[in-house]
Order: sequence, then C-alpha cells, then structure tokens
Amino acid sequence: MWSFIDEIGTFEIQQFDQATSPYFPLANEAGYLGCITPDGGGDAKTDQNHFLMPPISSVDLHNTRLVRTLWLDIAEYGPWSVTGASHQQKASAAPEDGAEDHAVTGGLLWHKISRRHRQLPLQVEMTTFVPVRDVTCEVTRVTIRNLGRENVTFTPTLAIPLYGRSADSIRDHRHVTSLLHRAWVEEIGVFLRPTMSFDERGHKPNTTVYAVTAVEEHGGLPVGAFPDLDRYIGERGDAEAPRAIYDAAYAERVLSEPGRLVEGCEAIGALRFPSLSLEPDQEHSYIAMAGIFPNADEARSAHKLFTSPGAFQREHRENVGFWNEKLDSVRCNTADSRFDLWMRWVSVQPILRRLYGCSFLPHHDYGRGGRGWRDLWQDCLALLLMEPQRVRHMLLSNFAGVRFDGTNATIIGTEPGEFIADRNNITRVWMDHGAWPLLATLLYVDQTGDVELLLEEQYYFSDRQWARAQEKLDDPASSGTILHTHRGTPYSGSVLEHLLLQHLSAFFHVGENNCIRLEGADWNDALDMAPDRGESVAFTGLYAANLRRLGEIVGRLAERSSRPILIAEEILQLLDRCGGDPLDYDDPDRKRRRLQEFFDNCRHGPSGERVAVRPEALQEDLRQKSEWTERHIRHNEWVETSAGYGWFNGYYDNTGSRVEGRFPSGNRMTLTGQVFQVMSGIATDEQLDRILHSAQDHLWDPSVGGYRLNTDFREVKMDLGRCFGFAYGHKENGAMFSHMAVMFAYALYRRYRPHEAWRILRTIYSAASNSTTSGMYPGIPEYFDPNGRGLYCYLTGSASWYLLTV
Ligand code: G1P
Repeated sequence: MWSFIDEIGTFEIQQFDQATSPYFPLANEAGYLGCITPDGGGDAKTDQNHFLMPPISSVDLHNTRLVRTLWLDIAEYGPWSVTGASHQQKASAAPEDGAEDHAVTGGLLWHKISRRHRQLPLQVEMTTFVPVRDVTCEVTRVTIRNLGRENVTFTPTLAIPLYGRSADSIRDHRHVTSLLHRAWVEEIGVFLRPTMSFDERGHKPNTTVYAVTAVEEHGGLPVGAFPDLDRYIGERGDAEAPRAIYDAAYAERVLSEPGRLVEGCEAIGALRFPSLSLEPDQEHSYIAMAGIFPNADEARSAHKLFTSPGAFQREHRENVGFWNEKLDSVRCNTADSRFDLWMRWVSVQPILRRLYGCSFLPHHDYGRGGRGWRDLWQDCLALLLMEPQRVRHMLLSNFAGVRFDGTNATIIGTEPGEFIADRNNITRVWMDHGAWPLLATLLYVDQTGDVELLLEEQYYFSDRQWARAQEKLDDPASSGTILHTHRGTPYSGSVLEHLLLQHLSAFFHVGENNCIRLEGADWNDALDMAPDRGESVAFTGLYAANLRRLGEIVGRLAERSSRPILIAEEILQLLDRCGGDPLDYDDPDRKRRRLQEFFDNCRHGPSGERVAVRPEALQEDLRQKSEWTERHIRHNEWVETSAGYGWFNGYYDNTGSRVEGRFPSGNRMTLTGQVFQVMSGIATDEQLDRILHSAQDHLWDPSVGGYRLNTDFREVKMDLGRCFGFAYGHKENGAMFSHMAVMFAYALYRRYRPHEAWRILRTIYSAASNSTTSGMYPGIPEYFDPNGRGLYCYLTGSASWYLLTV
C-alpha cells in the first residue's frame, strides 16, 4: 500500500505494477493533458485532435506497447529499460522470480519511477512533470547511479512515443495519416509536423509540431535518432525488444543524424546518446522534453527553457509550489493524518476535471473533451472552496448555457461561457440538468452573502432545439447561440429568471404519474431508454426542495436589495399562483398543456417585455409548488413490503410502470430513489429509519463496503436503460458508485445522522486507500467493481461532493 512520505501528500508505493494498472495525471492550466503509468506508459494530448502519443484506453495499460523510457545497452549484460519495459524485465516481474525493486513516488503534481537493476549495481530515477507555464509539454529527468565498485559502461537511448494527430485516426485511416507525417532530426531531437490535419469533410494544412528533445546534464547532445518507428522496431523486433536497441550493428546502420528528414511513416522520439562509462558512486542525468507546439521555434525555445539541470529543478519547484498553494486553500485536520493527506488528492480532482473534462484518462475513453452540464455545475461546488476567486465569473458565465425553455446546451467549451450547438444532431434533455445550477449558486450565496448575483443579467442559449427537445426549429430566434426577442434584439434576463425557468419548466413537464418526466435520462446517464413514459421520482424530489429554497432566496433578496425583480412577462403563465391563472396540480394533463402554451408563446423568442413581481407573491407561488410536490411524493411513492421494509420508488419505466418494490425476481430498490427524498426532507424521520434499514439489507455491499446503486433486477430492462445491459455490480448497474453514495452521506448529515453518514464516507476512504485491492493511487474513483477495484480515477463528481461534505 502507498504511504505518505511528507506533510503535503507526497506518497510512495513499492512494486505496484505487478498486480494493477494505475495511472497518474500530468497536466497544466495551459491545456497539456497527459498520464503516466509505473512503466512510463500512458499518453498525452491537448485535445481530441492533437495527441502527442498514441491514445490509450484502460485495456492498453497491460498490453505490450511503447512507453516513455530510457534504454541502457549495458556492456557485458545487454539492454535494460529504466522503467522495466523489456520482455526480460516483465518476465521476471513476479516477486517469486526476484522482481527488480521498484517504486513510484507521486507528488502534487509530479511522478517519479525508481528502479534497481537485479544483477548490476545500478539505481535509476525517472521524474516527470508538466511545467506550470503557458506551454504544453512535459519534462523528464532520468538519473542513473552506479552503486558498485567498478565502472559500468552503457549506451543510452531515450524513447518517447510520437503519434502526432487526432485520436480519431487510431482506427480510421491510421496508416493513411502516417503518410502525411514529416519528421526530421535536429541536434536536440526529433520533430514531427504532419503536412495536413486529416478530416474527410475538408483536410486542412497543419502547422502543429510534436517534438521530443533531450540533452545530457551538462548539455551533451544526442549523436542521432531513430525517427522512423518501423526502423526503430526492425524486423522481428517489437515495442519491448526494439531492434535498434537490441542489435548494435543494425542500430548503427539505421541511425539518423541531424538534418535527416523522414517522410510518410509512424514516428518515435528515440534519441541515441554517446556511450558512457559511469564510475563508482557517480551519477549521470538526461533531461528530456516532449510536447505539442504551434511551430518548431516554440519547441526549440521550450527545449532551451527546460532542459538544463538548473531549469529542471526550478520548474519542478514551481510545479510543487503551484499545486500546493492551490491545495492549501482547503486543509483537512482530523485525528487521522493519513486521511487528511488523502483528502489533498481528493481536493485536486475537481481541478483536474476542470482541465480534462470527462475524457482523456485511460478509463475515460469516451467523449471528445469538454465538460458535461451537470459536471460543470457540481464541480463548481468544490471549486467554490478550492478556487473561490474564479467562481463568481464562472457561475455567471455558465448561466449563458440555459435555454428559454428551461433546458440547456449540452456541449460546453473550455472557456467559461463557451457553449456549442449540438453538432451531432442528437436532441435530448437530461431532466436533472435544471436542478444543479441552483445548488452551486446557493452555496456561493451562502458563502459570500453576495445575493445580488441573482439580479445580474445574462444572455440565454438558443439553437434549433425547443420545447424540451420536442421540437426542432427551422429558424431559431438567435444570432449565433444567443437568444433574441421576436423583435430581433439579444435578450438577457437575471440569474434568478434563468433559475425560475429551469424549475418551472421541469415542474410542469410531468408524466402520467404526475412526476417529472425522465426524458433522455437523469443523473444516471444510463437510464436512457424511457423517453416516452419514464418519470424520475428521484429528481422530482430534488426539484421540489429546490423550489422551496428558490422561494427562500427570493425572500432574502427582497430583504437585502431594493432593486425590483423583473421577469419576462411570458413566465407569469407558469407562475400561476403569482398573478396568473391558478391550476389544479393534481391534473398532469393540465400542467403539460400550460407548459405547452408557454412554449407556443416563446417559440420565436420572448417579447422582451418585462414585469416586476412582488417577492412575497413569487415566494408563495414557489412554496405552493414545492409543498404540492413533496406531499405527492411522500404519499404516492412510498413502497412497502410485508417483511416490514419501506422505501421510495425512484422511477417509472417506459411502460409507465413503477420500477421499485416487490417483484417476482425479488425486491427492487435504488439508492438514487432515496437520496433526494432524504436530502430534501420529503422522507419523514420514520421513513428515513425504514429507508436506512431497507438500504442496509438490500444495498449495502459488505465486501467492498458502501451502498450499491441498485439491487440486481435480473432483467435486461429495455424499457428503462442501457445500464440493465451491464453486468450487475458494474458502473451504473449496482456498483458502489461513489457519487451517489457520497450524496447520500451528505443527505444524512443534513438529517442529523452523522454516524450513518460518516460510515459511508469512511468506507469509501478505506476501499479507495486499500491500494492492493483498489489498484489506485490516493484519490476517489467513480465506482468500485465487484472485486473492489476502483475505476474511472481522478475525473469524478464524487470528489467534489466528498470535499464539500467533509
Ligand atoms: C458520471 C458522470 C456524471 C453522471 C454519473 C452517473 O459520474 O460524470 O455526469 O451523472 O456518471 O451516470 P462521475 O464520474 O462524475 O462520478
């Protein structure tokens, strides 16, 4: 298991590549997104279309592959990889074969591999990090020490994989895109600039340069390079026994000297250095840089800036300083110092998700970058604590993604407020999306007292999707993605108005059971097959609580600010208890019709006329909606069994049938179905006791520890979602899914159940930090599989909630 070796969260772990395939993030604010494994594997990119190294997925972590390494061809011994990436070293990787001693040290945010040769007195260290500057590259120093009494002579070759194109080309036209490659050798390394950026919709000239450079510690240059991957590997060679390393005569024949251009081949940054005889007690270092640059000159400047020993140390210090200063904004002090330091790694996760989005680490082999709407808002919860200075601007900008029908943009760019119309033409709405912005906004207001944020103006997002994705407009009222009034001028409204639209639109959008429709899915992305008749009772509960809190904040606003509350006149239709025409909420048809009238009125944009509403009347309207919903759920959605169990039904499927309760295959219960009813106070204290009892018997997983997301339905429920096709116990089908479990803990704290709440947090901490089973470095994973393995490390909303809850 890893152990912390200092007061700032640096950890060390021995022999960790034997059982598991952990990976470590390497990133900076400039947009370098990499990862490294204990043998130097991993990849690096700046976005979907610019991968420095070949893109990898988790399955690649244990495949034979090219990694970052330094090969030493040792006299009277033969080739040896400082990261253990040769066949011989891997073949004796088990402890009973006398595996080489090796360790990984992980700091915020740098990575060190240490390794001891089995027979020779050689000790090596390879340290890698990303400079905290406006440059997208990583730097690595490899130091070799002679611990023996005699000289050791070797020929070093540094090898860093080069791919130089879009992840899309890994399967689609991989060979053809290699024909676009132009790689050349300079004195300092290998440079790769493909002629074009391949895109069959319209190829574009490429200017991006991918480079691997290196020098010896005193500035000694490589003698040449093997820029062509095929030649580096050679006949009968492979990634773990390249012929350029294993056959000296061959290497001499194929070595390229500076000035050499190679065209139309896969490339690699393999740099050969002069042979060296290392005396006893001496050490020698090589410093390398690998990165993605707008042109070759920028690559050369980065090389100059980073590859002297002094520069390496300076940049390393700055890297440590930068990340630790960030993490010092929240320090955890409990009786368990190991937990406190583990929390530092949890705290860095929301920042990493701000940088990576939900793509680009080995488990996250989906998406093309960018962030999801709910992730964006939930990470704001943690960023409020970690990076408070950014948050007001971030919150306000993010509201520009709300549509006037209460839904929102789904593709979010890297800059705050950058929203992109859906290129793939998938029209869908995640019904939970409207609920998250209020949570982040209220936390912000509670922390700062800045309730006036609610009166700040922001634009609305507009594209072809309208009426909660039920309509596709030919001519949306917008310019670019900004909503216009039907007179053709840009329309903006207060943050409060945005929040009102999100909640009112959801409140009226009910199904036949009078709960809010499931639409494309809710928080559980994998409940994506009940768009017609599905309903999410779970999130109806969250909306109910939000309506109440929204009403309360309107009250606070009225106390603190004399500015009037202005809203678009059309919204009054939905504020039926605030000057509009009151509706009977028990009638789902009438609710839907009222919402449709609003959509019809605003299809071509709002009129632009605004009316002032009385805060007390607005508050009363929201209170009545909230109370009605709470009552409805409390009385209609409670299920009980004859054995005395009781819990809330969380869903209706696409046949309109209740999902939870007693079934021939056994009791069906979801955790999500409980969390929001507990959090919002809809569950009475007596109901809460019964929920805890039922959850303990149905959902608690004694082996991993923690509550599972659902019981085993033993049915591929084609009328509810893809998760029922997943094997039970994995991901959204019944795994111990950290995010929901942590939200349950949060809800239990709110209900003054600290023991039950802490039990959940503690079990997640123990499961994650038992690295022998979890296979992880410190941090919280998205979920644990049935063997206790932590999956989808680093990029998970559970980190934000965990931090917030702690
Ligand atoms: C992931 C997604 C999140 C989604 C959840 C359940 O959770 O990022 O948007 O709600 O799966 O489908 P996370 O990785 O954040 O824990």
